[in-house]
Amino acid sequence: MIRTYRDAVCLITGGGSGIGEALGRELARRGALVVLADRRLEGAEVVAAEIRADGGQAESLALDVREADAFGAVIDGVLRDHGRLDYLFNNAGIGIGGAFEEHTLDDWRYIVDVNIMGVVYGTHAAYPRMIEQGFGHIVNTASMAGQIATPGLSAYGTTKHAVVGLTRSLRIEAARHGVRASAFCPGVINTRILQHGGEFGRVRGPAGVFEPEAVDTSRTMDPNHFAALALNQVASNREIIVLPRMWVLIRWLDRLSESLSGRFNARMYERMQAELDRRVAKANATGAAPKEPDGPPTG
Ligand code: NAI
Repeated sequence: MIRTYRDAVCLITGGGSGIGEALGRELARRGALVVLADRRLEGAEVVAAEIRADGGQAESLALDVREADAFGAVIDGVLRDHGRLDYLFNNAGIGIGGAFEEHTLDDWRYIVDVNIMGVVYGTHAAYPRMIEQGFGHIVNTASMAGQIATPGLSAYGTTKHAVVGLTRSLRIEAARHGVRASAFCPGVINTRILQHGGEFGRVRGPAGVFEPEAVDTSRTMDPNHFAALALNQVASNREIIVLPRMWVLIRWLDRLSESLSGRFNARMYERMQAELDRRVAKANATGAAPKEPDGPPTG
């Protein structure tokens, strides 16, 4: 039987920062054992140490979700050490911002590798083991970008639509094995991904609108608040978990009328472009050269 959440064994990718970190802290608070896996090990180590200092059970390890074999070895290790895997949170992700024409093919390959293949590798390794156990819950962090159009984030949105699609199909297949699948579709959560696409992320274009100081975090949700509400919905095995709640409305608007939703989105995009133009004009007027696009992903 799956445990909710006392003594549940939970593996969280991207557990060293933001939503993954908050999920780890909240799960540990509710009595689970959490394994925080992150490409940036230092972040996961610090979070795990703080959880342990608070009396919780936490481990950390290095994992790049683009490495299928390494992901498989991590799943094997968790099962060997703890005898079960109740939850896999496929949460690690990056953002790449910019207009479509600014994205390179390397950008596309990179974001597909992390945001889609990372989820596929984790699921591919964990799902058969969950079938053997007869229980387990795979929770994929998609996004509202997997529900609606996201101009200025087309590659990111593409990957998140894929994660939603995978989760919904898997959920139906998995039910007969006693295994669950859900997708988080967060709106805007105040994490490092809002700044340059997060750890290992990218923003394209001159004087990017996603400069840290340009991000308005006043209407974002705190990741700890998100984790607490989201885990309640995971416990009730909800398929698509949309938070903050106002995004439920936006999702329904999109379902109701794509053209209305498209017009709303186009207006937001125009505003974003106007802000970008204003920044470039200001940089030109003061003689400061607009910021060059970031170089290609470092791998
Ligand atoms: P974050 O940047 O704070 O955390 C992402 C974590 O993933 C970092 O610790 C990073 O080191 C790790 N990571 C990146 N690439 C990795 C790789 N190849 N292998 C292993 N770990 C890797 O950002 P945040 O917001 O916590 O992101 C978590 C997830 O939530 C992502 O999938 C993101 O797309 C999704 N999301 C975030 C939203 C937001 O507004 N913050 C909204 C919707 C979805």
